Amino acid sequence: MLKASHAIFAGKLGRVAVAGRGIRTFMCGIIAIVGKAPVAERLVESLKRLEYRGYDSAGVAAEVDGKLERRRAPGKLKALEAVLADHPLPGTTGVGHTRWATHGAPTEANAHPHISGRVAVVHNGIIENFAELKAELIAAGRTFESETDTEVVAQLLDSELATGLAPLDAFKATLDRLRGAYALGVLIGGEQGVVLGARQGPPLAIGYGDGEMFLGSDGLALGPFTNRIAYLQDGDHVLLDHSGARVFDESGAEVNRPIKVLAASSVMMEKGNYRHFMEKEIHDQPEGCQHTIAAYVNPLSSLTAFPGGVDLAGFSRIQIVACGTSYIAGMIGKYLIEQLADLPVDVEIASEFRYRSPAVHKDTLAIAMSQSGETADTLAAFRLCKLKGMKLAAVVNATESTIAREADVTWPIHCGVEIGVASTKAFTAQVCVLTALAIAIAKARGRIDEAEEQRLVKILLGAPRLIAEAIGLEEAVKSVAIEVAKARDVLYLGRGPMSALALEGALKLKEISYIHAEGYAAGELKHGPIALVDEATPIIILAPYDSYFEKSASNMSEVMARGGPVVFITDPDGARHAPVGARVVMTAPPCDPLIAPLVMAAPIQLLAYHVAVLKGADVDQPRNLAKSVTVE
Ligand code: G6P
Repeated sequence: MLKASHAIFAGKLGRVAVAGRGIRTFMCGIIAIVGKAPVAERLVESLKRLEYRGYDSAGVAAEVDGKLERRRAPGKLKALEAVLADHPLPGTTGVGHTRWATHGAPTEANAHPHISGRVAVVHNGIIENFAELKAELIAAGRTFESETDTEVVAQLLDSELATGLAPLDAFKATLDRLRGAYALGVLIGGEQGVVLGARQGPPLAIGYGDGEMFLGSDGLALGPFTNRIAYLQDGDHVLLDHSGARVFDESGAEVNRPIKVLAASSVMMEKGNYRHFMEKEIHDQPEGCQHTIAAYVNPLSSLTAFPGGVDLAGFSRIQIVACGTSYIAGMIGKYLIEQLADLPVDVEIASEFRYRSPAVHKDTLAIAMSQSGETADTLAAFRLCKLKGMKLAAVVNATESTIAREADVTWPIHCGVEIGVASTKAFTAQVCVLTALAIAIAKARGRIDEAEEQRLVKILLGAPRLIAEAIGLEEAVKSVAIEVAKARDVLYLGRGPMSALALEGALKLKEISYIHAEGYAAGELKHGPIALVDEATPIIILAPYDSYFEKSASNMSEVMARGGPVVFITDPDGARHAPVGARVVMTAPPCDPLIAPLVMAAPIQLLAYHVAVLKGADVDQPRNLAKSVTVE
């Protein structure tokens, strides 16, 4: 039965792809190297660092004796590595690509680089007018090999070169015809030691080496080769050769983009003794949060210390826009800010916010929450806030990201690079920033006095130690994971900030273990989800011993009365007062409600992780997902 319905679905999706706008490449990672030695191995090394952007297919191309050669493979990078082992790619100037597609099968034909005549192109983004350009090129006698939008860039540039234009002029003429979003890396056959690049939307960084030059989607991609990085701005294009980079802005004027030296920590990408990045990142949280908190509070005075740029008492509302886990962090922020500072906070999924007519005004502070700082929907929502005249604050991990650059003030989360597609340490770091912000706004608005500010800051300073203790529940979590791994559906319930954490628990489990899970505010249980309760559906209840506890305990009794196996995640007082009959009671360290979301996050992250491991899922690269969603 199930197989049959899957087959019907597959047919429908197939038709959409054909009847729609062809196969389009949305997010991706790109790399280009002008090297002194063969580059294939280094291209692949860099692509490994970009796989978080997508892993549907990968490819590399190089200039070899005046001609272009390429190797491509559908699937993860390992497949490309196998191709390269059988058919090595020589050449000291090359480009590489890892792809995440939304339409159509990730076949070899649709994998980048796309080659047309003398031109090889790798692309992150979407060329919106590709159908129109393609029709024009076909009418001019050109034939296409793929269904991608990207191939029109290669074809167009090749036809401009055929008119006798020099590479840079032909490239500019091509860019002038493109509409949409792109980060491009281009090789031209016969132009040994030259790479062209352009940015309109998705980020693109130039890396300066020793007689070698690099171009990549981010500093992380260039990390193994150089820490001297310059970021292209929207509308820029660049020519790289052994002597350096010539950057031109949209008007064609040659410009300087400042070179920054990246800290080693921002390009480190090691798993250490852990099996997966996600596991490491869960364990990194005490240290990560310590860094975050240290940036926003003064441990000596126990006062908050928010960098200037925004008058924290100068707003009558806050509007948070975000996607995914960052959105859930924002929801926790709402609870904290409204409670402590009595300031209204709206939190909205960016993809909704950007397409409606939100009633937001100048007196509202817009906060974009984004680990990557590049999520297209969050960026668009942020830009809408700007249009509405709002002041913009960015809570990001990537401080060189577009969202950070467009903000009036950036509040970095300082947790170090996050590689696992399912966000963990960025989540708790975001919550740390919002907790400190809630205290700072409460103080700025006169809702708390200095003594209370100090009391709260001290509680926040204690969070890293308690998170470490909560991580100590890992062995207990592993036994629960054995049961949860057998389930088809799982329910997560909580009240107050724990209702947001219930959403996060469900999201983590779905993302990496592919088990259907739902998070609910426990009070909603009887309005629907209780119908799901049966002996086979684990119910994870997040209930520290706080003002909501009795209500959550009643919900626990309700589900147990219907045979639901309950995993009750609480603290020592909660464990003492819990109704009898939970399948498992997990006792996190006692803590003030202010930091309970931080402390209770670890067990639910670990649960998702261990379930996924038991199911043999690819934890760091779950199917269909990508870490940085740079196109809507
Ligand atoms: C993707 C990732 C999530 C992340 C979300 C928002 O869906 O898989 O882990 O929470 O994007 O990303 P951002 O970088 O804006 O926080």
